[in-house]
Amino acid sequence: MYHRYDAVIVGAGGAGLMAALQASRQARTAVLSKLYPTRSHTGTAQGGIGAALGNVEEDRWEWHAFDTVKGSDYLADQDAVEAMCREAVDTVYELEHMGLPFNRTRDGRIDQRRFGGHTRPDPKDPSKRIAVQRACYAADRTGHMILQTLYQQCIKQGVTFYDEFQVVDLLLNDGVCCGVVAYEIATGELHVFHAKAVLFATGGFGRMFKITSNAHSLTGDGLAIAYRRGLPLEDMEFFQFHPTGIYRMGILITEGVRGEGGVLINGKGERFMERYSPTLKDLAPRDIISRAIYTEIREGRGANGKDFVYLDVTPATVNRYFQQDGVDRRITAHDVETKLPDIADFCRTYLGVDPAKQPMPIQPTAHYGMGGIPTNVEAQVVIDSRNTPLPGFYAAGECACVSVHGANRLGTNSLVDIVVFGRRGGKKMVEYCQQADLTPLPAETDGPARAEIERIKANRATEAAGKIRATMQELMMDRVGIFRKEADLSQAVSKIRALKAEYEKVGVRDKSARFNTDLLETLELGYLLDLAEVTAFSALNRTESRGAHLREDFPDRDDANWLKHTLAYLDGENIRLDYKPVVITKYEPQARKY
Ligand code: FUM
Repeated sequence: MYHRYDAVIVGAGGAGLMAALQASRQARTAVLSKLYPTRSHTGTAQGGIGAALGNVEEDRWEWHAFDTVKGSDYLADQDAVEAMCREAVDTVYELEHMGLPFNRTRDGRIDQRRFGGHTRPDPKDPSKRIAVQRACYAADRTGHMILQTLYQQCIKQGVTFYDEFQVVDLLLNDGVCCGVVAYEIATGELHVFHAKAVLFATGGFGRMFKITSNAHSLTGDGLAIAYRRGLPLEDMEFFQFHPTGIYRMGILITEGVRGEGGVLINGKGERFMERYSPTLKDLAPRDIISRAIYTEIREGRGANGKDFVYLDVTPATVNRYFQQDGVDRRITAHDVETKLPDIADFCRTYLGVDPAKQPMPIQPTAHYGMGGIPTNVEAQVVIDSRNTPLPGFYAAGECACVSVHGANRLGTNSLVDIVVFGRRGGKKMVEYCQQADLTPLPAETDGPARAEIERIKANRATEAAGKIRATMQELMMDRVGIFRKEADLSQAVSKIRALKAEYEKVGVRDKSARFNTDLLETLELGYLLDLAEVTAFSALNRTESRGAHLREDFPDRDDANWLKHTLAYLDGENIRLDYKPVVITKYEPQARKY
């Protein structure tokens, strides 16, 4: 079936919906989503959205920008970071005016809590930095509230949605983007969406790891489709492990727990973060805390001698450490219930643990890809080291790399990223649609996607797909996880290549057209395998340690050789790497201490 729009947005999380709100004001816009929109992964973001409102204590967007750059281990592009942190303030108020039910201070303003790596100068000694209350929050359901609010606004504005449409190809004609091909899950029909402008907001790819906070749907579809069409992927070696996932399940326990005073405790009952981050302690950035947890475990100080530690937010523990840290505050069991209701619920349901009374067993969980489809600050996709835009193609949110997170994202900045760059992308699409003609479709539209689907359906059905997925996830966890070294990474690359060869033979038991989840999962596995290969290959190539990328064989950051972004291209069967410089405005790289 053929459809024609000015703007097509793929993905209905926060970035896609924000873009749709902007674009649909002046351009005929459609949103395609493989899920029902309010099931998008933005809905699982818990603890807050960072913006220097200064509602609880003095704050400035420049301090937010400094923290973001330092948190990124100086790999973020500073022009993009400045744009994001400056616009975060207005964007949060815009969400408030749309009706988002933020928690409130006693005098009715948006309340804010502490989060890892967010700081301000210490009023007693401005040469030091202390944690600042910058995360605007709606209990521990901030992402859920953002998603519901934006979806309601889109409905009010009459945005056209194609729910449960899986994107399967990107259409380019002579270097110009002119649409996408999507698979309608309910019918198995292929649809061609012919458009002047396309924006990908397809989310992340955490399902390549065994222990992850990511939903089953996070299979990197948009990135893999762009990569297969010859576009580069940027900085794929940087994948973030969130320090606190529920032990063995990976389900997120928000950093907001530590923002409210929660502390990490090892098997010896010690608050070990004091040793790794003497100033910020449990509110250090995620790369530092996740490494610290695994160091404790490796050195035999895991809880019960196992591979987990405790996150303790019981009032007795928190109040004792508040006193030791000289913090003038107390928390109560009621605070835990009202400010962290979802995590209290998860822990009771999945662990049988009541966080108001008992510590929670946690371990780091694969959470967020800092890399993605390269874009400029207007969310235009760029295709080379000179930042040449690809006309008509945009990307925003986790699938994109603008790059505001560099080598390590600060908590709360993913929500800022999606709303700020989703909005920028939507506006830019409108401008483009107003001046551009509709580019004709290429000679082949849905042919390649149809051939791939038929190839999979024609293969003999076996149990192979499940085995390939499980092997990939274990491999990525064990060899491309928090601690990395050459031997592990090169083995990972060759094993993933072998898995890709096996994947070519994978078939599906279900040959039908309607709701063929067997086929969809097989397509998703193909995307994940491509991205796992790029992640491992880029990690093998970067012979330094920076942010979330820790090479045990190259333990130091190496600005002389590696202060640059990686661009990975698919070149026949191989990966070709190129580089582009990091944009530095006013924050010169320094040693990163907390
Ligand atoms: O910890 C959290 O609530 C997660 C937030 C984030 O990834 O930004």
